[in-house]
Amino acid sequence: MKRLLLLNGPNLNMLGNRENDVYGDFSLADIEESIERLTKECGYELECFQSNHEGELIDKLQDANGQFTGVIFNPAAYTHTSVALRDTIKAIEPPVIEVHISNVHRREEFRSKSLLAPVCYGQIVGLGIKGYKLAAMALIEKE
Ligand code: DQA
Repeated sequence: MKRLLLLNGPNLNMLGNRENDVYGDFSLADIEESIERLTKECGYELECFQSNHEGELIDKLQDANGQFTGVIFNPAAYTHTSVALRDTIKAIEPPVIEVHISNVHRREEFRSKSLLAPVCYGQIVGLGIKGYKLAAMALIEKE
């Protein structure tokens, strides 16, 4: 099985039209196309999913069992609040890499705390779109 899941949480559908000074000018479609190109070159399939709803993200992660070799996940604001997503990540088999476009440690203090990072395979912050690429490479090379 050579399949990765690219999962994005709330408000990331607004990239390009949202705090561009923090998140840059690129759109979610730009990220998805760029990761799809990269994974394809490595012989991997990519499925992309974005939701503003915690339960939908949980459903998608639960369904990842047996379907994906790994998950690239920007949980957005749920990073800092969701015990439910933490429990799901802990319960599933595929390794999850948490990605943040911005450097969450350079912003408001509440963004420094991730409830999810302790149950993730890894975490990448502050590298913009490149963070997603590095996460994809790490999951592919882990195989
Ligand atoms: C974010 C950081 C979060 O704190 C924030 O709520 C987001 C985006 C990032 O990619 O930098 O929505 O996950």
